[in-house]
Amino acid sequence: MGQFPLTLSRFIGQNQAVSPGTAGEFSSLLSQIGLVGKLIAQDLRHAGLIDILGTTGEINVQGETVKKLDEIANETFLKVFHQSELVCALASEEMEKPALFPENWPQAQYMVLFDPLDGSSNTDCNMPLGTIFSVVKSERKDRMPTADNLVRKGTEQVAAGYLLYGSSTMLVYTVGQGVHGFTLEPSIGEYLLSHEQIQIPVRGKVYGVNEGNYHKWPGGTQQYIDSLKVKDTATGRPYSVRYSGCLVADVHRILIGGGIYLYPGELDKPEGKLRLLYEANPLAWVVEQAGGKASTGTSRILDVEAKQLHQRVPLIIGSPDDVQDAEEFIQGRRM
Ligand code: AHG
Ligand code: MN
Ligand code: MN
Repeated sequence: MGQFPLTLSRFIGQNQAVSPGTAGEFSSLLSQIGLVGKLIAQDLRHAGLIDILGTTGEINVQGETVKKLDEIANETFLKVFHQSELVCALASEEMEKPALFPENWPQAQYMVLFDPLDGSSNTDCNMPLGTIFSVVKSERKDRMPTADNLVRKGTEQVAAGYLLYGSSTMLVYTVGQGVHGFTLEPSIGEYLLSHEQIQIPVRGKVYGVNEGNYHKWPGGTQQYIDSLKVKDTATGRPYSVRYSGCLVADVHRILIGGGIYLYPGELDKPEGKLRLLYEANPLAWVVEQAGGKASTGTSRILDVEAKQLHQRVPLIIGSPDDVQDAEEFIQGRRM
């Protein structure tokens, strides 16, 4: 008899050789994140028909205009996790300060940092969107964690991944035992295993970057991007541009087919645009677990010292050979 695809919770229970006590915890934590994904996907599926497109008129802590769907996605996380027996704190791109849930502590030891809606410039034109999550564990047993306990190095994550709202809704995660992708079967509301043990190609043929910023980049970055356009049979160049405006969608394409995504540092903004704790770190762990690399251009993303919640970092992420090439140009070791 044909094997029914594995649901998220069965896969975690059966395959995740995480320490015995935590398999159940990860299963419910990821199921709760999956629930957030289902609720956000539902809102997106008919966004054009109800008044949830456009902006709220607010400016968030990032200095960016808040889309109605940013706020709705953020609220969804708060509603799902506020009563969670697993989570004692939430930090979001859309909230200046974390939401602390002392009523859930000390039973709840996990803390979730997230970008509730990634690629917000895509909301009103029906283009792909994502949600990114990073999970760390409270290291304090003696008292409820405070905001600064959420500011951790990427290597301290215990789970990370993303939801991609594309032609289908996917959940991709790692708990340090490889990277696995699940596709939502809307008719039964279950995430079913569709991409087990994802491995990124060692080199790709696409690159994702906002070329409109070319004039803002240091010379090494400009030379790297120029090199992708020159015929070179050894590396399969010229590469094609694939840039959607949604980091999750661009990185997912690269995770499956290989290539490189860059949001580099700029001459007057060396830290770049993307946020370390809830964009770069989770995606860096996922891509590394698939055999890829994630760099600031000069150092490994997961080793970056985290100093504050909304800290920005340059992000060069994707196939190992492509990221290595970019680092050599950016560090001036190649012209
Ligand atoms: P967010 O919508 O969460 O702010 O993220 C947007 C990010 C990323 O998803 C995307 O790749 C990048 O910003 C696009 O930036 P530009 O519009 O500057 O290219
Ligand atoms: Mn984002
Ligand atoms: Mn966002």
